[in-house]
Amino acid sequence: MPSKRPVVLYGASGFSGRLVAEFLREYNVPFIAAGRNAIRIRDVMSHVPGIETADYEVVEVGGSVDELAKLFAGAKVVCNTVGPFIYHGPVVVEACLRAGCHYVDIGGEQAWHRQVAEEWGYKFAQKHLVVAPGTAFMSAPSDAAARICMESGAIDTLEILTMFNGFPTFGSTQTIFAVIQTDGYYLEQNRYHEWARATGYEVVVPGYIRTQLALSWGGFPHPVWYKNHPQVANVRSFGGLLIRQIMENVLATEKHFEEKIRPLPKKEQEKQLAEMASAVQAGTPPRENPREQRTIDVIVGRGSTDFVQCVLFGTCCYRQTGLIQAWAAHNLVNGAPRQVGYASPAAAFGARELLKTLEGYGLSKMKMLS
Ligand SMILES: NC(=O)c1ccc[n+]([C@@H]2O[C@H](COP(=O)([O-])OP(=O)(O)OC[C@H]3O[C@@H](n4cnc5c(N)ncnc54)[C@H](OP(=O)(O)O)[C@@H]3O)[C@@H](O)[C@H]2O)c1
Repeated sequence: MPSKRPVVLYGASGFSGRLVAEFLREYNVPFIAAGRNAIRIRDVMSHVPGIETADYEVVEVGGSVDELAKLFAGAKVVCNTVGPFIYHGPVVVEACLRAGCHYVDIGGEQAWHRQVAEEWGYKFAQKHLVVAPGTAFMSAPSDAAARICMESGAIDTLEILTMFNGFPTFGSTQTIFAVIQTDGYYLEQNRYHEWARATGYEVVVPGYIRTQLALSWGGFPHPVWYKNHPQVANVRSFGGLLIRQIMENVLATEKHFEEKIRPLPKKEQEKQLAEMASAVQAGTPPRENPREQRTIDVIVGRGSTDFVQCVLFGTCCYRQTGLIQAWAAHNLVNGAPRQVGYASPAAAFGARELLKTLEGYGLSKMKMLS
């Protein structure tokens, strides 16, 4: 009987899942393409470029901890692309811990990161396993760049902006709306402070003459990654789409939520947010075009007497996500993580290595501006 394939890709039928599969094939990593509907997964996999030379099998699996743990047992890494993670993540992480696998996902919701850090970080560390949500465009490359910026001087304060041009998928739109109900925090003197709700921020983005509209969008993962960091005490992170009309609509939805939906019971809040998201994006967008779907991360660091700024100019945020996941899985199949327990991808797999990988594929390039 052949031994188990080392990677389980859960959510393989999704827009992000199929891109992870594409890059797992390029890294020659054998994988199980798993999810709740085998027919749909087979159909999606059959359209992945070059899939005929990948070593993979399709497995349909139920969504309970028991069923997932049984599937994961014997594998080395679980790549989870089923979001919103605040809803669907906990069972998968629990099953992963039970099966004794490393866990990476593509969740950028800060509330999800806080939950993973608090509930599972220590448990994974005890088993010498890494649990790394956010192993994705939002916000792994900006964190990697921030770590390189921090080496340039006595930097203790970071401001990070991540923006992209593109069509959010069904799952991403559901997540953008789901985080509206969560509390988002920034870090000030190593303490969490809550962001003002339903507030937009005009931001200056290199390469654009007009200012852009950014939101705190639930807070982003960075404040959780840098909590109790020996060097950095202050972290603010914001972002959004480089399409003002969409950002104005999201901001209007945040205001509507505060006035009309927050007073409702939790389940009703979730239902209304999901319905609003489905009205915005019910289908699957086309494959990204690198000449159109560009990305930008801006990282500014300050100390009392030091200053540093760098920018990541990139393209195709979903392709970046697929590559970062597959690269992380490849790292874990062939070696040990640099950090166990809850960790950012840059801390677990290397900041320079992550950025070089993206640059090697022409997906992102770092420029120091000072
Ligand atoms: N941080 C980042 O940079 C980043 C980048 C990309 C995506 N994301 C996040 O990743 C998540 C997925 O995004 P996507 O673009 O891949 O969305 P998508 O195309 O809508 O795919 C969602 C996947 O999740 C599966 N799924 C949904 N609900 C499920 C459930 N209850 N049980 C089992 N499987 C379920 C779907 O299965 P079916 O096909 O059977 O419906 C599909 O495989 C979102 O939360 C998004 O915000 C984050």
